[in-house]
Amino acid sequence: MTDIDGSAVAAEIRSGVANCVETLTEAGVEPALATVLMSDDPASETYVSMKQNDCEEVGIEGVHVDVDSEAPAAELYDTIDELNADDGVHGILVQMPVVDHVDTRRVLRSVDPAKDVDGFHPENVGRLVAGNPRFKPCTPHGIQRLLDAAGVDTEGAEAVVVGRSDIVGKPTANLLFGRGEGGHATTTVCHSRTEDLAEHTRRADVVVAAAGVPEMITADMVSEGATVIDVGINRVERDGESTLVGDVDYEGVRDTAGAITPVPGGVGPMTRAMLLYNTVNAAAEQHGVDVDLP
Ligand code: GUN
Repeated sequence: MTDIDGSAVAAEIRSGVANCVETLTEAGVEPALATVLMSDDPASETYVSMKQNDCEEVGIEGVHVDVDSEAPAAELYDTIDELNADDGVHGILVQMPVVDHVDTRRVLRSVDPAKDVDGFHPENVGRLVAGNPRFKPCTPHGIQRLLDAAGVDTEGAEAVVVGRSDIVGKPTANLLFGRGEGGHATTTVCHSRTEDLAEHTRRADVVVAAAGVPEMITADMVSEGATVIDVGINRVERDGESTLVGDVDYEGVRDTAGAITPVPGGVGPMTRAMLLYNTVNAAAEQHGVDVDLP
């Protein structure tokens, strides 16, 4: 079994993104990403601050807007409108989930599709499904890159995605069965109503676990030599201590799998790297600058 080192692959992508930032700067464009948070969830606060640190590392200007979680929803909608109108901002990310009194669908369709570096706007979702993505969503794109780094040929492979979320499950399936590089897999999407999950996962050459259920994928559910991508980040109590585990029983599955992503250090760093990638891509598109994307 090999560990797929997401931190190392992400570092390579960040280095390529830093080169794109140089090209943009020489062309008079300072790429900028705005993050917006309207939530008191400490995990979301951590994710947003990590994204801002990543920006700084590669030379992208990071702008952060905190909207008070008690404020009327209109305050968030107005913030998005202002960022849309600001030519100095090339990418906008509204950290999900937002507080309950905000209409999430309205948020997703309010972000200018050209600045939608998450790829969540209905137009960008439509383009992905139609096989002509503007921005590949960050986690699915990161998964594709990890499979490539692990030497997995997806063409004709059996891929099973566990989870049907808009952020991970659905777009990952689209990329895996799509016609592009890292696609052409025969792809099954399983979810909470799937009758015999193990029957599907045992068939798979590639398992993507993205259900948000701690350690649900166990050794008996994975075929010998399969590649296992663990998207889960679950905080659980173990022996009286709080710890992070994925959706895969790592210790159990690692002896069966051919390759597996650890948690942390697998998919997480890739999601963040692909956000930087989408941001320089957005800035380049908006200003008509040619960049050599990593
Ligand atoms: N919450 C969990 N994952 C994501 C993501 O990729 N983008 C945004 N905006 N929010 C998230």
